[in-house]
Amino acid sequence: MDISGSSLQSDSTMMHMALEVQESLEERCNRILRNMEASLTTRDRVGIQDFVLLDAYTSESAFLDNLRKRFYENLIYTYIGTLVVSVNPYKDLNIYSQEQMDTYMGVNFFELPPHIYALADNVFRTMLSEFNNHFILISGESGSGKTEASKKILQFYAVSCRSTRLLNNVRDRLLLSNPVLEAFGNAKTLKNDNSSRFGKYMDIQFDHQGGAVGGHILSYLLEKSRVVHQNRGERNFHIFYQLVEGGEEELLRWLGLERNCQHYSYLVQGCCAKVSSINDKSDWKTVQKALSVIEFSQCDTEHLFGIIASVLHMGNIKFEADVQGYATLSNNQEMQWVSTLLGIPAQVLQHGLTHRKIEAKTEELFSPFSVDHAMYARDALAKAIYGRTFNWLVNKINESLANKDPSRKTVIGLLDIYGFEVFSVNSFEQFCINYCNEKLQQLFIELTLKSEQEEYKMEGIEWEPVPYFNNKIICNLVEEKYRGIISLLDEECLRPGEATDLTFLEKMEEKIGRHPHFVTHKLTDQKTRKTLERGDFRLLHYAGEVTYCVVGFLDKNNDLLYRNGKEVMRQSKNPIIQLCFPATEPDSKKRPETVVTQFKSSLAGLTEMLMSKEPWYVRCIKPNEAKQPGHFDDVLVRHQVKYLGLMEHLRVRRAGFAYRRKYEIFLQRYKPLCPDTWPNWKGTAVEGVRCLIKHLGYKPEEYKMGRTKIFIRHPRTLFATEDAFQVCKHKLATRIQSKYKGYRVKGDFLKQKQAATMIENCWRGLMARKEREKREWAVKAIKKFIKGFMTRNQPTCVDNSEYLAYVRQNYLTRLKENLPKTVLEKDLWPTAPPVLQETSQLLKKLYIRHMVRKYVREISPQRKAQLQLKVQTSSMFKGKKENYPSSVCSPFLDTRIDVEDINIKVLQLIQHELIKYSVPVVKYDRNGFRPRLRQLIFTQKTAYLVQEAKIKQQINYSSLKGVSVSNLSDSFLILHVTCDDIKRKGDLVLQCDYLFEALTKLSVIANKQNCIKVVQGSVRFDIQPGREGFVDFKSGQESMVYRAKNGHLMVLSESTRTKSR
Ligand SMILES: Nc1ncnc2c1ncn2[C@@H]1O[C@H](COP(=O)(O)OP(=O)(O)OP(=O)(O)O)[C@@H](O)[C@H]1O
Ligand SMILES: [Mg+2]
Repeated sequence: MDISGSSLQSDSTMMHMALEVQESLEERCNRILRNMEASLTTRDRVGIQDFVLLDAYTSESAFLDNLRKRFYENLIYTYIGTLVVSVNPYKDLNIYSQEQMDTYMGVNFFELPPHIYALADNVFRTMLSEFNNHFILISGESGSGKTEASKKILQFYAVSCRSTRLLNNVRDRLLLSNPVLEAFGNAKTLKNDNSSRFGKYMDIQFDHQGGAVGGHILSYLLEKSRVVHQNRGERNFHIFYQLVEGGEEELLRWLGLERNCQHYSYLVQGCCAKVSSINDKSDWKTVQKALSVIEFSQCDTEHLFGIIASVLHMGNIKFEADVQGYATLSNNQEMQWVSTLLGIPAQVLQHGLTHRKIEAKTEELFSPFSVDHAMYARDALAKAIYGRTFNWLVNKINESLANKDPSRKTVIGLLDIYGFEVFSVNSFEQFCINYCNEKLQQLFIELTLKSEQEEYKMEGIEWEPVPYFNNKIICNLVEEKYRGIISLLDEECLRPGEATDLTFLEKMEEKIGRHPHFVTHKLTDQKTRKTLERGDFRLLHYAGEVTYCVVGFLDKNNDLLYRNGKEVMRQSKNPIIQLCFPATEPDSKKRPETVVTQFKSSLAGLTEMLMSKEPWYVRCIKPNEAKQPGHFDDVLVRHQVKYLGLMEHLRVRRAGFAYRRKYEIFLQRYKPLCPDTWPNWKGTAVEGVRCLIKHLGYKPEEYKMGRTKIFIRHPRTLFATEDAFQVCKHKLATRIQSKYKGYRVKGDFLKQKQAATMIENCWRGLMARKEREKREWAVKAIKKFIKGFMTRNQPTCVDNSEYLAYVRQNYLTRLKENLPKTVLEKDLWPTAPPVLQETSQLLKKLYIRHMVRKYVREISPQRKAQLQLKVQTSSMFKGKKENYPSSVCSPFLDTRIDVEDINIKVLQLIQHELIKYSVPVVKYDRNGFRPRLRQLIFTQKTAYLVQEAKIKQQINYSSLKGVSVSNLSDSFLILHVTCDDIKRKGDLVLQCDYLFEALTKLSVIANKQNCIKVVQGSVRFDIQPGREGFVDFKSGQESMVYRAKNGHLMVLSESTRTKSR
């Protein structure tokens, strides 16, 4: 049971959820699309979602199979058109979340899997768009989930409706009226721990924008007998237990109650005051809170619980028989509490409980009760007090829910009423309940057929009458004036004389015995008789046969409250009791209306009210008696399917066409099946559908085209289409997927390309900027360079400092790379820029010195000696003799003639002397200047001119006066000797190819550096002492030696300059 904390909690959660329902249109569309996609999962397509599409729609077994299949998949909702069949899952399915509500909000009814929210949303939107009134009839057997369904619907509205502070207030009251009504009107029964013991119709009033602005509740036929009597395993109304268990100490003290249910005889008859599924304590708190929200004042609450407590005390009042057998009170204490709590004088109360008022013609007499009568009267009073207080409570709630705004409203009614009841023994209550269901079925038939007909008319489709069972005949059997069962029952109750249940039965047999839907033991055939007791009558209801036992019919219908009981109550100071037992109530002189007549007129009122509204249905089914999840009892469900008239309902629904849909919706779903309509149909929807069904090959008898809808006669036609769609869908999905993937990849590619271009641009920009900077720098550098160049010869200043530095560095680098490799290359020293002239010179000097030093260090002693000779040669001839420079590069040798090449005789002759140097020479005769090849040998002291084995001339160095050479490029040398002795030969005119070498050697060996003379023009020499000769040196075209006419030896030498040229 769930009136309690959990209920309130969920109600208040819903309130919060309601506040959060503010999402953008786009979000909503996305969500719906998402959910529509989700709705196509295989699981949700288990079985058939709509029984109208069941091919074997007349087969109960097929119906049951589908229901069972879905139940085991936790799919508790299935449609019959717009009717919702709901099977109680007896477990939390987590299908009532905010998300689920969002899913169903604003979505076409058939787009998503069946759900109570789909119905609620559809009703709400139809109401808003058509601005008319609606009601949702929720029926089913006890424990099938009617009250839960009505709560779910209410919660859906609480969340989905527009919300303002004022509207939230109304919404809270609507939600919280539930726990209060459930506390007072629900009880634990064998079938349901939270069984509603009254029928409830609740109007929710909406303004034109869909805000819930008010509400109104009507209650029907509260099971008052429960106040005084409960079957084993059942309880009294919840509120009694809640008060005793949860009431505050002070309150209990004030009410004279003890915290122990076992103390109160009205609470213990079912022997189950405590139930594990019910928490009376927390439920008490919930009710307290709810009462404060629906504006019950402290005073109201006190008086209300005063009454509840007084009923409990009343139940404890015991009677004893006095000596005359009349009833007297055995214990005054309980009566005292009743008197105190209801504010009735004790004597009046006591008298009222033990006496009955009898009206004779003119006077009133009091007749004492027997003990049984007294107990009966006490219970009747308790029932009346509770029943009327319940009505007061409903009225009070209505006051709080009342909409004060007079502008026009539309309403959605929620009718949570008992469904068909068939027990092993059925009594007056079942009769009333089943009569109520007949009336509602009648209403359904009228409304459905009416709406079907209207739809056909609207769509321009011809109406074809269809066979279905019209239960009007049964309604008439029950309610017809004078002849109906109700009239007969009332007649029996009101007529004077000894009327009993059996006389009532006889009367029925007499008046309606021939009615095809009425059977009794006496009237029936042999076979049926066996199934009927003598006191039974059977009605063949539209939903099946129900056998009623007449016992108690009269009594229950009379619901006799002895007149003075009412009078006693009228003396009460309790304001609620005063309202419940008004002084204006018709007096007992006029018999009050019987229960069944009251019920009949309240039903008539209800049907009249419902007739003006659009009907919607929720049929609840209980899957098993054990209240267990996951257990589907075929027999029990089959029974309910039958008694809820579901097959009948389906038959009516299938009367014409199994399926109808707006062209737009039909086309939208199935357009992929025809190439002309896929992916987009350009024309109108109706033309599109026509094209589509032509392509699908629908036969003319299978469908009809209305003004706005297509009507399909058989489900198989639709299923074939749907199957084709399912196959096609996969192909399409693949195509769409590939397109989408392509689109995404293309998108990605474009993005990447864009990114790449961007990076490229940035990079290029960066590079260009760098390049520009470089160029700028270069321009500056060049400018600076040029300026530096132009001012290079000026003293160092800003303009040229860098240039000069550069020049310096550049020169130094160049110099470093081009340094002369040898001292001899010193003239290849790179030319220095002006600014570095001095430095260059210094460096050159340093470098050469370095080179020289290095050279000198590395040089061998021989080479050194040789070079020293060269130096000597230089000092003698450099700048003096023309061909000297060309000789520099030829190294000197130790000798030009090896010892072996000197004649042995000569060697013997000079053996005492060491030969220092020998060189071949040409000697020119003194007479005639003929050239003769000779060897010139230098020893330590003497120079020898040798011809083969002869020493032709020997010159002591001491006698060597000098040596003459020309300044030209010839290789002549003239050795001047001292000629003291006439016999001695004169000077020698020689030509030596190694002139410089020979002369240097000579100068060193003979130590005659200063005697070597470089002369110009002619050289005089002594041919003999006293006889002179001349050698003339001249430059010429070519080298030539001849004796000139003047007797001189003419030596022409080719000028080195000419040579080089
Ligand atoms: N949709 C549901 N999901 C889960 N549990 C449910 C649902 N509907 C009903 N129940 C369970 O079944 C119990 C009985 O449901 P509910 O009180 O609505 O039955 P009812 O048809 O109103 O019975 P009665 O005619 O006796 O008032 C609930 O207390 C709850 O435990
Ligand atoms: Mg209920």
